[in-house]
Amino acid sequence: MVMLVLVTQIISAQQSQQDVEKKIDDIIKQLTLKEKVDMCHAQSKFSSPGVPRLGIPEIWMSDGPHGVRGEINWDNWGYAGWTNDSITAFPALTCLASTFNPDLAHQYGVAVGEEARYRRKDILLGPGVNIYRTPLNGRNFEYMGEDPYLASIMVVPYVQGVQENGVAACVKHYALNNQEEWRGHINVNVDDRTLHEIYLPAFKAAVTKGHVWSVMGAYNKYNGQHASHHEILVNKILKGDWGFDGVLVTDWGSAHDTKEAAYNGLDIEMGTWTNGLTFSANFAYDNYFLANPFYEMLKSGEIEESVVDDKVRRILRLMFRTNMNMERGLGRINNKEHHEVARKVATEGIVLMKNENNFFPINPEKEMTIAVIGENATKMMTIGGGSSELKAQYEISPLEGIKLRFTKATILHSMGYSSGPSAYGRVIPPHINQDSLYAAAIETAKKADIVLFVGGLNKNHHQDCEGGDRLTFELPFNQNALLKDIIAVNPNVGMVMVSGNAVAMPWLKDVKAMIQTWYLGSDAGYAIADVLSGDVNPSGKLPFSFPAKLNDNPAHYYGELSYPGDSIDQYYKEGILVGYRWHDTKKIKPLFAFGHGLSYSNFELNNIKTDKSTYSAGQTMKVSCDVANVGSLDGAEVVQVYVGKVKSKVDRAIKELKGFDKVQVVANDKQTVNISIDIDDLAYYCTEKGGWELEKGQYIVYVGTASDQIKKKIKISVE
Ligand code: BGC
Repeated sequence: MVMLVLVTQIISAQQSQQDVEKKIDDIIKQLTLKEKVDMCHAQSKFSSPGVPRLGIPEIWMSDGPHGVRGEINWDNWGYAGWTNDSITAFPALTCLASTFNPDLAHQYGVAVGEEARYRRKDILLGPGVNIYRTPLNGRNFEYMGEDPYLASIMVVPYVQGVQENGVAACVKHYALNNQEEWRGHINVNVDDRTLHEIYLPAFKAAVTKGHVWSVMGAYNKYNGQHASHHEILVNKILKGDWGFDGVLVTDWGSAHDTKEAAYNGLDIEMGTWTNGLTFSANFAYDNYFLANPFYEMLKSGEIEESVVDDKVRRILRLMFRTNMNMERGLGRINNKEHHEVARKVATEGIVLMKNENNFFPINPEKEMTIAVIGENATKMMTIGGGSSELKAQYEISPLEGIKLRFTKATILHSMGYSSGPSAYGRVIPPHINQDSLYAAAIETAKKADIVLFVGGLNKNHHQDCEGGDRLTFELPFNQNALLKDIIAVNPNVGMVMVSGNAVAMPWLKDVKAMIQTWYLGSDAGYAIADVLSGDVNPSGKLPFSFPAKLNDNPAHYYGELSYPGDSIDQYYKEGILVGYRWHDTKKIKPLFAFGHGLSYSNFELNNIKTDKSTYSAGQTMKVSCDVANVGSLDGAEVVQVYVGKVKSKVDRAIKELKGFDKVQVVANDKQTVNISIDIDDLAYYCTEKGGWELEKGQYIVYVGTASDQIKKKIKISVE
């Protein structure tokens, strides 16, 4: 019976898809050449034209990916000043990745998609899945970390959740946009195997498993050609091998040539004549590469009409899924449920990095003096950062959250340092006297039982911000010196690190505890207080490695040509050895390893086994173990399964993440976890063959709770 219902559903879905394709054929027949061309480029900063004569609507887009951006003016980057466009700010995607919880990614997608729908957006410009290659990349906070498997698992439910609302997700930036420095033209040289194993899997998952309706091309070049109209990346891989049937949108200003854009799969051109978010020249939509120049070439026959027809077909297909889908809901905004999702993601994503003698949680029932020091205790982090900036209906700061939760304590606050206002593409120096802030912070620290140092990076230029990379691995604004002096007068310091990137931590051994909080959106302060007070037992895990020093990171290890390049070219010399793959294989101990994250409870993994010892292609390996909570608090643990090949034809990382599962376990109880891994997923990308190759022989399965916390190794073989 169930089978019959399923088959009927599939047939009716196929039928309705055929009906849609037929309708699209009919529409294309009625369109003039000019109308077709118009649909392929912007008419304003964030919209492309429809065909009013036939009732075909405009397409409206918005950034993405952490909430729906404030309304932007028609023709320039200024905010339109609407009074009804404030939204729920969700945590940054690094935080979502840290939850290791795909179900939360789905809830996040549904909620942000509902807000996009309410704001009448047809495409939400996100999520971003560019791989974390260097801690200096200004946009890492918008992405899902260094591991292609983790990013693939998290991106799919996000995309599906958004699209359940009849709003297209737009996975970005395809591909190899792994730094902001020279992003508009840097030519990335990377070998095929690394491209396929590290930098493409999350995009591939979004397309083939998430069925994403749109993809955004990247600014940079790859093999000498701009990524947004790339013969290999777009024609061969995205639209060919992966069968992407949606719309490829440029990044804003990433189209560079009419014929290349026409033939290499670009469907909608946005933002030309602008340099990202900063500059915007004259009203020039008619001069876009896919506007008049395209029209002229089509008219003269230099480009065949079938080329524009394919683009229009894809655009109309996206419309039938979004703004011409009469069944889509109306969306909602700033509702209680969205804030609950935002807070849940935020609390689950916070990573307990260090906790000497159970320094955290801090008992909220105790009368004591807590000094909250650091500019990030009060700085709005939904503001700044570039295109992901948000106009949040509210943002609870860490200080507010702490004050609201620790009502029995006396809370003192001192800024400690000042970074100056946030400005896109510029560093504005602060007006406040740094010396007096510094001195006041030391005095405040002296008066307290506990110091919570709320510092890190922020969303200003050259911090965690689009359009530039960080200039140094160190914490900015003299925070290292300040921390050292605070610790000298009060050793009870807990660090609350607000950043989207790894930073140098010369003071780490001297602070009692540390949480990594990322950027948490509207409910940031509540979520931080939830974890500091122990109302929520932390369960986040790091989605990228924290190197002890910058040169321990592989992109930096290989010097300037590797990162940032010579301004024309750069070479990904580390190949597949990105993140923990590098640290493990080269035996360079990170400060904090990928997958690391403590809990207020303790977990033991027992009875770790695979269902068999020998597998063949096409089979599934089942890894199971018991997770015992041996602490006194309920909590969650993430069981991580890595696999490595013993003796391979090709260079391999010691191990790679192939499965994980997050499990809630009440105190003094245990849960059994089952993780399935497709044996075919152990294949490597064979350059000669131009495809995946499953090597026979021995493999090692590593089961643990972090990439450096392996509890058991099991040998298996593939026949
Ligand atoms: C960014 C994109 C963004 C677009 C529109 C570009 O500068 O790279 O991520 O979606 O602007 O704001």
